[in-house]
Amino acid sequence: GAAVEVDISALKPGEKMTVEWRGKPVWIVKRTPEQLAGLPKNDPLLADPKSERKLPDWTPAYARNENRSIKADTLVVVGICPHLGCSPSDKFQPGAQPSLPDDWAGGFLCPCHGSTFDLAGRVYKNKPSPDNLEVPPHMYLSDAKLLIG
Ligand code: FES
Repeated sequence: GAAVEVDISALKPGEKMTVEWRGKPVWIVKRTPEQLAGLPKNDPLLADPKSERKLPDWTPAYARNENRSIKADTLVVVGICPHLGCSPSDKFQPGAQPSLPDDWAGGFLCPCHGSTFDLAGRVYKNKPSPDNLEVPPHMYLSDAKLLIG
């Protein structure tokens, strides 16, 4: 079928890998404890902090939590902006870009029309993207093996 098996054993905290699933880039991001601790602080700044919008499977039930993930530290999202389909770039570091606020908590920036997403793929308020980044269907076959699709 269209499912993709991924070995994530080499992924270190603070790193991201990209795999292809159904012609789309899927990002797997291993977040550091500091990055995880920062997520709840973003909630008041986000358009849909609890991922309640959109179709039920846009954020599957098992990812409808603060981290939007099955394993707390490991984010799995489709790396395509829900606005018009550009691929957002990594802006993991606070203050990494002059165009971002000094207190930017890290996440992703869409270069096309400026939508910003936090490290759970949640879109900030008043941005063109109508939704958070999509979480694809996925499950763990073991600690090191992820199945997407
Ligand atoms: Fe990403 Fe428009 S395509 S903000």
